[in-house]
Amino acid sequence: MALWGGRFKAQADDSMRELSRSVHFDWRLAPYEIEVNLVHLENLIEIGVLSKGDGAILKKGLNDLAKKIGEGSFSYIESDEDVHSAIERGLIGECGALGGSIRAGRSRNDLVVTDFKLYLIDHLLEIASMLKELIGALNSQGITHLNIIAPGFTHTQHAQPISFAQELTKHSFSLARDIERILDWQRRNSLSPFGAGALAGSPLQPTPEVSAKQMGFNGAHKNSIDAVSDRDFAAEALFIMAMIGVHLSRIGEEFVLWSSTEFNFVEISDAFSTGSSIMPQKKNADAAELARGKSGRFIGNLTTLLVVLKALPFAYNRDLQEDKEPVFDSIDQLLMLLPAVTGMVQSATFIPQSISSGAAAGFTLATEIADYLAKKGVPFAEAHEVAGKCVQYCESNGLELDQIAEDALLKIHPKLGRDLYQLLNVEAAVGSRKSIMGTSPKSVEMAIKHLDKEVDAFAKEISRIRTAFSGMISQ
Ligand code: ARG
Repeated sequence: MALWGGRFKAQADDSMRELSRSVHFDWRLAPYEIEVNLVHLENLIEIGVLSKGDGAILKKGLNDLAKKIGEGSFSYIESDEDVHSAIERGLIGECGALGGSIRAGRSRNDLVVTDFKLYLIDHLLEIASMLKELIGALNSQGITHLNIIAPGFTHTQHAQPISFAQELTKHSFSLARDIERILDWQRRNSLSPFGAGALAGSPLQPTPEVSAKQMGFNGAHKNSIDAVSDRDFAAEALFIMAMIGVHLSRIGEEFVLWSSTEFNFVEISDAFSTGSSIMPQKKNADAAELARGKSGRFIGNLTTLLVVLKALPFAYNRDLQEDKEPVFDSIDQLLMLLPAVTGMVQSATFIPQSISSGAAAGFTLATEIADYLAKKGVPFAEAHEVAGKCVQYCESNGLELDQIAEDALLKIHPKLGRDLYQLLNVEAAVGSRKSIMGTSPKSVEMAIKHLDKEVDAFAKEISRIRTAFSGMISQ
């Protein structure tokens, strides 16, 4: 159904209609639109545009329509331009011509952005809850592997030994920041654009701050032109999702590498692997690879919207219809990807022998020698040089650091005594890094517990926000 046409002599060309149509992707906004309409209805009754009786008919019509949409007995049709046209057609179907009254005092321009914001709040909160699940999976694998010592890498080269739990749960901290970003995004974007009308506000919506509160927002926008133009919230949401995508890609890359025959750190469960159509022996880490690969489209979606917004004149321009598909795509992809990554982590079997067997390889304990000398008052630059000499000595003689004879040590530096030997094992090196962020199993365990608490507090905040928007978004 067309929401306009009075001033037109000719029908739109088929190609124009095709170009203009958004209902096939914006239909998912329908449940939010119904709720916004219900709030608007109260407003229209309040200011006397609608009688209480007509208001009651429309309210019943909207609720019946919502039910039919939920059951699938009402949906959009070929001639609907967008979700707004389809809903109005449905309401007229329920209430006759009276259904057209709901359009008073509001425009698709403020309606679409209100629906969109509510949709995003709903779905980003869902993503936040899924992130919590993934953090839970990483942390519980971490707790199981606190005492497994692994080679820690810089430049993908063996660097220093670490607790494998720290390696696993480093991801938990970046994902927790993502949840925090979502909560911060919600707090800053909790302003309702509803009441902006086409662009100038509407005399039929004198108190947007009231409907804002009824919906669950903290307040209303203070400039109606800004209200209908603002898509910062969508761009920020796309950034947050791109960042999550990047974080997942780093987990993915690690699992791909770790599951290779060369590393053999992890066996990814069959449930999260695929086979090859030609090589019967193959088991591929496809969940991890898709986690790595999908980051491309998350970043692409962010770029798409930023380019749409660049230099765009204020108030509504049809360009803005291009804001939704990138957002919907990022949401859909994350809702699909996050449970798979969580499942992959939960069901993964780590292989302690392979993880720890190389923990000292590549002279990862060389820093211990430098630290030992520094503690004995040798300037670190010199200590570093001496430790390097020890490595060189080992390489020339086919030895490990703890195999250098006492007299050879003394020749390298007079302060290298026999008490050095007790430091040259991976357990001692890992155990000595006791600071809050350090790699000692105790520190890592405390950090995990601390993060668990923080994430629990985030979960409380998520349900607080859902309650504030009760009726408008899913509970
Ligand atoms: N389908 C449009 C969109 O998603 C709705 C707003 C249309 N407003 C307008 N004045 N044409 O952006």
